Amino acid sequence: MASLLHAGAPLAALLVLCLLSACRAAGSGGGVGGPSAVVLPVSKDAAATQQYVAGFRQRTPLAPVGAVLDLAGATLWVDCEAGYASSTYSRVPCGSKPCRLSRSAACVTTCSAAPAPSCLNDTCGGFPENTATGVSTGGNIITDVLALPTTFRPQPGPLAAAPAFLFTCGATFLTRGLAAGAAGMASLSRARFALPTQLAATFRFSRRFALCLPPAGAEGVVVFGDAPYTFQPGVALSNASLVYTPLLVNPVSTAGVSTKGDKSDEYFVGVTGIKVNGRAVPLNATLLAIDRRNGVGGTKLSTVAPYTVLETSIHKAVTDAFAAETAMIPRAPPVAPFTLCYDGGKVGSTRVGPAVPTIELVLGSDAASWVVFGANSMVATKGGALCLGVVDGGKAPRTSVVIGGHMMEDNLLEFDLEASRLGFSSSLLFRQTNCNNFRLG
Ligand SMILES: *[C@@H]1O[C@H](CO)[C@@H](O)[C@H](O)[C@H]1NC(C)=O
Ligand SMILES: *[C@@H]1O[C@H](CO)[C@@H](O)[C@H](O)[C@H]1NC(C)=O
Ligand SMILES: *[C@@H]1O[C@H](CO)[C@@H](O)[C@H](O)[C@H]1NC(C)=O
Repeated sequence: MASLLHAGAPLAALLVLCLLSACRAAGSGGGVGGPSAVVLPVSKDAAATQQYVAGFRQRTPLAPVGAVLDLAGATLWVDCEAGYASSTYSRVPCGSKPCRLSRSAACVTTCSAAPAPSCLNDTCGGFPENTATGVSTGGNIITDVLALPTTFRPQPGPLAAAPAFLFTCGATFLTRGLAAGAAGMASLSRARFALPTQLAATFRFSRRFALCLPPAGAEGVVVFGDAPYTFQPGVALSNASLVYTPLLVNPVSTAGVSTKGDKSDEYFVGVTGIKVNGRAVPLNATLLAIDRRNGVGGTKLSTVAPYTVLETSIHKAVTDAFAAETAMIPRAPPVAPFTLCYDGGKVGSTRVGPAVPTIELVLGSDAASWVVFGANSMVATKGGALCLGVVDGGKAPRTSVVIGGHMMEDNLLEFDLEASRLGFSSSLLFRQTNCNNFRLG
């Protein structure tokens, strides 16, 4: 997990800076003198999980913690059973305001063992979910110090600390299926205590974050608050260089544990069509819309799905259209979970990845299309094949289109919760930069 922590040396320096300056900001309630943005460095697990792991510091004394990034979920959850040591954790009492706001129905009344984060009396209970495996459990809702850098490159700068960041205690068994070294999951959802809204409330940011996912071997970032989107060498993306589309709210929860009437905390967008090489693919429009009675259908973004998942008929239509547009490229046998593969040696390359037809996700109008190039549509397999990186999600999935991690890599995505819109850059490779080049400070 060394890659999560930048170099080892800056840690001591960061702590000193933190003590001298930025940590005070949150202690005094943010606002004047507080940071205008904080960042969460992200790396991709190159092993089977392909998850994106965020590194941050938590507890007292501050300890490095890794957690899998999740656009779903309700809040941060971490394993409190193994190796949780802190002098500053505090329970969220049953019936308290944060307990009510976390929409928790549970109250943990007694624990007879020695007091610990996972053993407390009269404590609000949450339901941390491992959204990669679909397993959830009950756990204490507590608070502790959470610290994030306020600058990124050229150096990870002073830390800003949230002195009482609310999260849920998961269990060691719940971390099964997560990337090696990840002790939990960090939710970026629109839920009240997920990172975007909780950090915004702590530091008086506007409720906005930018997500720049890296491929394996590089480092990406989540930026919370108001930061300029600048990249080396000399690339600045203003909001004018992003294309915006409304973020939609699915009226029916998509979480593993929910209460009747809860809305989904996930991010849906209004894909109305898909084009391959500029030609519309015939699709069943009913599947693309969210059925407001049961929450089925529609398009969401997921950092836990490694590849884009399409309902069976959509998958077939897109794959057939792509095959028809690439009839000249020699094929290779399919490599699961993909169904359309090419001889990697016979595909040309461009600045934006393999030279293949574009896939456009039409978001309401042609002017707001998310254009996907080879770097985000094609996956190189170990055997040298190059496969169309979409997988069949079955005939009756809850959500018809799930835009997965690979399709979002090296794209800047701005989730603006105030304006309820998603801004996207398309491939940064076009601008001769990438997420690893993001700088702040
Ligand atoms: C919870 O309360 C019971 C009864 O008062 C007490 O015996 C126990 O030690 C307490 N547990 C913790 C973790 O404080
Ligand atoms: C871009 O941001 C500026 C300043 O925050 C704002 O005035 C403007 O309306 C924004 N433009 C778009 C297209 O969102
Ligand atoms: C389109 O999808 C809906 C929902 O699954 C289904 O009821 C309908 O029969 C489909 N229409 C066609 C033409 O296949």
